[in-house]
Amino acid sequence: MFYFGTNLKMHGTPAETAAFVEAVERGLEPQPEVQCFVLPPFTSLPTLAPTVAPTPATSHLWLGAQTMHWADEGAYTGEISPLMLKALGVDLVMVGHAERRRGGETDAVVRKKVSSALRHGLRVLLCVGETQAQKERGTGAAVVSAQLGTALRGVAADRVMVAYEPVWAIGAAGREADAAEVQAMLKTLRGTLQTLFGPRHVPILYGGSVTEANCAAYARLSEVDGLFVGRAARRADGFLRVLAAALEARSIPAGRA
Ligand code: PGA
Repeated sequence: MFYFGTNLKMHGTPAETAAFVEAVERGLEPQPEVQCFVLPPFTSLPTLAPTVAPTPATSHLWLGAQTMHWADEGAYTGEISPLMLKALGVDLVMVGHAERRRGGETDAVVRKKVSSALRHGLRVLLCVGETQAQKERGTGAAVVSAQLGTALRGVAADRVMVAYEPVWAIGAAGREADAAEVQAMLKTLRGTLQTLFGPRHVPILYGGSVTEANCAAYARLSEVDGLFVGRAARRADGFLRVLAAALEARSIPAGRA
């Protein structure tokens, strides 16, 4: 399976996001080997959920949330609970994105969120990645392995995906990661996942300044199970172009279901 998704971050009104998803749906050529997903802002989920996630387990385009609280309910002003997501038919939640970690989300909080999401039957996209300073100190691999271990120790692996996103490669100020460097880090992550889960395969996606021009190099890596794209997929035509280039690099034929 090749995974391909985008995080829309804090972009788009419900109407704008609906137009985005509609255009993506129109251009998508669903096929069994490819699973796409979109993570819109919370406010767009109620509009999109009925159209995108009528049967979440089989849909070729999963709808996901960008984060959630770990508690089912309570005095947590402004937060969204897993029960609220499930009530909308949302099947996927991202946890631990670098922009949330930067805002104070610790590994301990990430762990609580992962456990809660899995307990509620949601799929989890766990984001991990080292900062520029950690990379320079040579501690990147240790940091990323520790992030994985803290978040995933003791949970069931079957609804978990990991996105490796070096913090220094994310966003407009980021720089492109070298594909060989990514492959080396993914091998480390793969080792950590094998220690945690044995032979069970946990998909690892790569993210961080992925574009139409560079996605082939990442998509071809043997350790990459998918791509996670921000800015380059913010518009539907960009989403479809990066996807097409990635599938070509993977030698996955475009096909209509
Ligand atoms: P970017 O974002 O592709 O715009 O760097 C990636 C991300 O934050 O997941």
